[in-house]
Amino acid sequence: MKNRIRLGFNIDHVATLRNARGEGFPSPLKAAIIGKKNKVDLITAHLREDRRHIREKDLYDLKKKIKIPLNLEIALTKEMISFSLKLKPNFICIVPENRKEITTEGGLNTNLKKKFLQESIIKLKKKHIKVSLFIDPDLKRIKDAKMLGADSIELHTGNFCKQWSMKDKKRINIEFYRLKKSTDYAKSLGLNVHAGHGLNYQTAKVLSKIKGIEEFNIGHFFIADSIFIGIENVLKKFNRLLKR
Ligand code: PXP
Repeated sequence: MKNRIRLGFNIDHVATLRNARGEGFPSPLKAAIIGKKNKVDLITAHLREDRRHIREKDLYDLKKKIKIPLNLEIALTKEMISFSLKLKPNFICIVPENRKEITTEGGLNTNLKKKFLQESIIKLKKKHIKVSLFIDPDLKRIKDAKMLGADSIELHTGNFCKQWSMKDKKRINIEFYRLKKSTDYAKSLGLNVHAGHGLNYQTAKVLSKIKGIEEFNIGHFFIADSIFIGIENVLKKFNRLLKR
């Protein structure tokens, strides 16, 4: 039987909207509560260095009030690692971060700050936090993730989604098989495989066909379509499409 794919509900952009006016609404916590009621498996949030969406208080509130796992995305910096060790979320996903980018642009370069990365993974795991690295679907990066001691990888699906939006069949296939091959390789090394970035209904449905992908983390599209049909309906639609 096909395994049920876990859904990580990334609530960053509820906070983006709240911060746009500096008011207390819409509340990321309220979105997370609706997510929990609609079978999401984890709440995902990215604490960016410029705090443009989620902020520390949101994370403490989520940790205290939401009884489903919290997946915190962070850049590889001293500040973020020490905050994570204090917050102790269930999962940490280490992502590259560049202040000027609109969203995370590529996967983590596992050659940069390698020693710090390895030491950080050890420290996080000592606190019983599972660690994932957000990487491109590239076999070398996957091997590095294993050697560095990560529990999981999150495959960057941005290129696949971009080709999908451009309707280029040949390139869509190339990106699909890159993700498939990467998943197979990561599984053969004993890594858990997650995927995310740029996913919508169609791309999530297509990628759910790759056996071995255990979790999707979806953010921007969730909130974008919620404007038109409401969060509950978006979540229900994903549950139906992914047969969860
Ligand atoms: N996964 C990771 C590691 C990310 O950094 C992001 C973007 O913050 C996402 C998933 C979600 O991407 P999107 O908002 O495009 O769904």
